[in-house]
Amino acid sequence: MATAETAPTRPKTPRARKAKPKPAAARPLDPAESQIFDLRWQRSAPHLLGPLARIYGEVTDMDALSARLRDLLERYWAERPADLKALDLERDLNPDWFLDQSMVGYVFYIDRFAGTLRDVPAHIPYLKDLGVTYVHFMPCLKPRPGDSDGGYAVADYREIDPRYGTMADFEAVAAEMRKAGISICIDLVLSHTAKEHESAEKARAGDAYSRDLYRMFDDDTMPKLYERSLLEIFPDQAPGNFTWYPDIGKWVWTTFNEFQWDLNWENPEVFLNTLETILYLANRGVEVFRLDAVAFLWKQMGTICQNLPQVHDLLQALRQATRVACPGVIHKAEAIVGPADLVPYLGQGRHAGRESNLAYHNNLMVQYWSSLASGDTRLMTHVMRKYFPEGFRNACFATYIRCHDDIGWAITEEDCAELGGITGPGHRTFLANFYNGSFPGSFARGADFQYNPLTGDRRTNGSFASLAGLEAALAASDVHGVDLAVNRILMGHALIASFGGIPLIYMGDEIGLLNDHGYRDDPDLAADGRWMHRPFMDWDAVARLSHGEAGPAAWIHAGTRHILDRRKATPELASWVPTRILDTGHPHVFAFARPADERTLTAAFNFTGQHQTVAAAALGIDPHLAFEEVITGRPVAFHGGGLHLPPYGRAWLVPV
Ligand code: GLC
Repeated sequence: MATAETAPTRPKTPRARKAKPKPAAARPLDPAESQIFDLRWQRSAPHLLGPLARIYGEVTDMDALSARLRDLLERYWAERPADLKALDLERDLNPDWFLDQSMVGYVFYIDRFAGTLRDVPAHIPYLKDLGVTYVHFMPCLKPRPGDSDGGYAVADYREIDPRYGTMADFEAVAAEMRKAGISICIDLVLSHTAKEHESAEKARAGDAYSRDLYRMFDDDTMPKLYERSLLEIFPDQAPGNFTWYPDIGKWVWTTFNEFQWDLNWENPEVFLNTLETILYLANRGVEVFRLDAVAFLWKQMGTICQNLPQVHDLLQALRQATRVACPGVIHKAEAIVGPADLVPYLGQGRHAGRESNLAYHNNLMVQYWSSLASGDTRLMTHVMRKYFPEGFRNACFATYIRCHDDIGWAITEEDCAELGGITGPGHRTFLANFYNGSFPGSFARGADFQYNPLTGDRRTNGSFASLAGLEAALAASDVHGVDLAVNRILMGHALIASFGGIPLIYMGDEIGLLNDHGYRDDPDLAADGRWMHRPFMDWDAVARLSHGEAGPAAWIHAGTRHILDRRKATPELASWVPTRILDTGHPHVFAFARPADERTLTAAFNFTGQHQTVAAAALGIDPHLAFEEVITGRPVAFHGGGLHLPPYGRAWLVPV
């Protein structure tokens, strides 16, 4: 049995915890600032303290916790720079600012995009030209040395990765970006720290306060019980969820890699410490926090320890806290989970409008790839209609086709059974084979990732362009194949630009960068196949674009830029407009309507390499009326009452 000190589950009685050193006294607030703070506290306190009481009420003196929280928030509000306070005011008055159709995101590793932080501003014109208003710097806080899971094993949350620069550099770049109308998003890894983090090292050295921040066990009794229902995240390189450390005689909960120690969110100190990190970084100019791997925050015996209700209370509490001390920031949840579990991250029921502002729409991403492989959109239509509400309060999805991670084939048995004709395991196997290129006739050039012999599941790596057929077509000098691949990519970008939510372009996808196998030569990266789709930016290719060179990079770039430009000019594509999935009855066309106040935009996508015609009536539109296609700006001709879509065609229709 684990001893009390290891506290595998919620402790029964409040325990005295060793206090941390007292912070320096806050700068006194002037009366106006003090009044603003009080009003914000009053506004948010019930929505902040309510969830915290549900989580910690039994183990903590809530009055004391509330007082500590208020002090912490006030201290960081007092320190917040004037220009960020101005941003707070603006966004407090317009809390739906990020739902505007002008929002476009772009995601990159600082070194792979620019070099160091100081080199980033030189590329602001490139980003502006593409239409970008939000950039996600992939993990940029100081990681552990060596393999750091791409920076997701953070050793110091108050320092920038020295390879990229310093915190002062970050602040300067953030200010410059802000002036250019670009918000910076960074990763905040809150489910675990690197084992080299100061707290983990203190825990290792026996410090009681620090040990309570992690999940440690004296023997394997509890780990074995938990393992009965847990899944494995990296079965290849890091099997199991616990690690034994003989030097300290403890098992440590390590969901991801051995060097990533899970934090113990049952301890309110973890909440306070994480919040303090967020406030610190917000005051340096972070505007969007990508809260990493949030599904895993809470553990409960007998479950897979993902998506538990307490996670939603914790996320709401973090969000309501930032609404007090830095309301200019928003939170994005990274929960790569099945559709039924995903929706609650954008706030449902008592959390509506109060939890995360953004969440990755990984189901849209998976369904895009699934329909592209099969040429059949019925599963996509079924899943999108079944699980997803038409909209959210003060929240929307981040829509994307590729990111730095692998694609996990989140296709459920139940959904396949409801549709008929396919099975979950069968379709998942088909997709993995299609995208590793082994399925006969596949256009994709990806690779398997994390084969799990217990479940038979494989995930997939590969860049957008390589998975969409560009690599294979170029290798075969297949001109028609290149054209099809370009259109698959542009259809994907048109889909994420119109679906509702902030479209995120993954660096290089706008110029069709292919898989990069160079990572195999770097011992710190070689074991992680995801580096295959994390290439370096090809600035030479960009230079060639500006010299007017034709080719796939130029076509994809011009097409993507144009799609994003049209998005910005189309108010029906704002994220506050509902997204209503249409059941067109057409097996190859995916469609939805965006019913805005003035008029409805109808979007349709052909997922095949053949021409398709979909009845206007099935799209809910009258073919006798005049329509314009927004991307091309051309009038629409309905032939025989049908809308014609060329191979991988996309159409955004509005009545004129
Ligand atoms: C997130 C990241 C992924 C990382 C994991 C563990 O899922 O996107 O790259 O491996 O968290 O931190």
